[in-house]
Amino acid sequence: MSVSIVVGSQWGDEGKGKVVDLLSSKVDIVARYQGGANAGHTIKIGDKQFIFHLIPSGILHDNVICIIGNGVVIEPKALLEEIEMLEQNGITLEGRLFISHNAHLIMPYHKLLDSINESGERKIGTTGRGIGPSYIDKYARKGIRIADLLNKEILKEKIRTNLKEKNNLLKKVYEHEELNVDEIINECLDFDRKIDKYITDTSAYLNDALEQQKSILLEGAQGALLDVDHGTYPYVTSSNPTSGGACTGTGIPPTKITKVIGIVKAYTTRVGLGPFPTELFDEDGKKLAEIGVEFGATTGRPRRCGWLDTFLVNYSRRINGINRAVITKLDVLSHFENIKVCTAYEINGKQLKYFPTSEAELSQAKPVYENFKGWNTDISEINNFEDLPHEAKEYLSFIAVKCGFEISHISVGPKRSQTIEL
Ligand code: GDP
Ligand code: IMO
Ligand code: MG
Repeated sequence: MSVSIVVGSQWGDEGKGKVVDLLSSKVDIVARYQGGANAGHTIKIGDKQFIFHLIPSGILHDNVICIIGNGVVIEPKALLEEIEMLEQNGITLEGRLFISHNAHLIMPYHKLLDSINESGERKIGTTGRGIGPSYIDKYARKGIRIADLLNKEILKEKIRTNLKEKNNLLKKVYEHEELNVDEIINECLDFDRKIDKYITDTSAYLNDALEQQKSILLEGAQGALLDVDHGTYPYVTSSNPTSGGACTGTGIPPTKITKVIGIVKAYTTRVGLGPFPTELFDEDGKKLAEIGVEFGATTGRPRRCGWLDTFLVNYSRRINGINRAVITKLDVLSHFENIKVCTAYEINGKQLKYFPTSEAELSQAKPVYENFKGWNTDISEINNFEDLPHEAKEYLSFIAVKCGFEISHISVGPKRSQTIEL
C-alpha cells in the first residue's frame, strides 16, 4: 500500500500531467483533489497529445481507476467534452472513472461572474473558468453539488434560489442581463443523465481501497505558490494545491500519506498577474519561452518565464513536506551558455530569512543569483544519469542541496520515454 501526492512546487505547469502518467503504471488509483478546468495537464504519447483539465492523468493506463475527488469543482461542459474526447480515442471510462458525490459544480453564473470580476479593478488574470466564484459558493454553503443532481426536485429548488440571488446581483450591481433558470436546470438534468453512472462516494471508495492495500496517487493541480493560503495572495487560485489539500480534497487521512512528490520545472514560469522575482524580460526569457513552448495548456496565454528560484522551491518543499522531487524540462536549458539560479532574496540590501508571500514584500524582493555554466548539448535522448554532461549533474546536485530534497526522476522531454530514473 502507498499513497503518494504529486504537487506542483511553483506556479503550476511544472509537468504534473507527464509525471502522473509516468507514475500511474505503478499504482491502482489516481485521484484529482482540487481545482477544476483551470488545470491543463499535458501527456504526449508518440505523436499524440492529450490535455486533461478534470480527468486524472492516469486515465491512459487501462487498469488504473480514476477519481475526481470532492475537492474538485466540476464544469459540466468541460467534463463532457473530455469524456467524449477519450471515448473517441477508444478509451473506456465505465467502471474506471468515479466522480465524488460531494464535488461542487461550476454553474454558468460562476463563469460569468469570473469574467465580470476580471473586467473590474481587481484583476488576477484568472483562466476565466469560474473557479473563484464556484469556491465562494461552496464556502458560503450555497453550492450545487454532484449529489444534488440525484434529486430533481431539490436540484430545481436550489438552482431557483441561487438564480434569484445571482440575477439580482447581475442586474442591480453589474447591469448585466439576467440568466434563464430553465435553461440552467435543463443543462444540469442533461448532465446528470450523462454522468449518473460515474457518481459515487469516492471517500468511501478510497478508504476501502486502502484497506485492500491498493496504491493510490493523488494528483494536484496548479502549484504551491498559487495556493489560496500559502501562495502569493491575492494572485492565487481559490483552492489548496499544496499537499494538505490532498487529504481534505479526497477524504484520505494524513496518517495514510506515504510520500509527497514535488514537481519542479528546471526554470520558472507563471501565467496571469502577480509578483515574480526571477522573471526575465530579456533574450534569455524569450529563449526559455520559445524552446520550452511556454503557452498555457488551458487558455493558450503566453507564460512569463524566468530562472529557477530555489528560495521559492525550498519554501514549497517545507509547506508541502516534499521528500522526492522530479525535475522537469531540463532539456530546455541545453541551449544556454550560462544559467542562473536564485538562492535568496534581498530587500533594501538585507537578505530575507523566510519566503515573503505578501504582494508588497515579494514585489520588492531582489533575487540573489549563482551562475552556472551551461552544457550546450542535446540531452533529450539520455536515459541514464551517468550519461548527462557534468555541468547538468552539477546543476541538479545544487538544486537538491539548496532545496533540501532527493531527486527521484529527471524529465528531458515531454514523452514518457524521455525520463531518467535515479
Ligand atoms: P502541468 O499543468 O503541470 O501538467 O504542465 P503542462 O502540461 O501545463 O505544461 C508542461 C508542458 O511541458 C507540456 O506541454 C508538456 O508536454 C511539456 N513537458 C513536460 N515535461 C517536459 C520535459 O521534460 N521537457 C520538455 N521539453 N517538455 C516537457
Ligand atoms: P495547472 O494544473 C498555471 C493561475 C491563473 C491565475 C490564477 C487564478 O495546469 O498547473 P483561476 O482561474 O484558478 O481562478 O486563476 O491561477 N492558474 C494556473 N496557472 N497552471 C495552472 O494549472 C493554473 N490554474 C490557474 O493563470 O493567475
Ligand atoms: Mg498546466
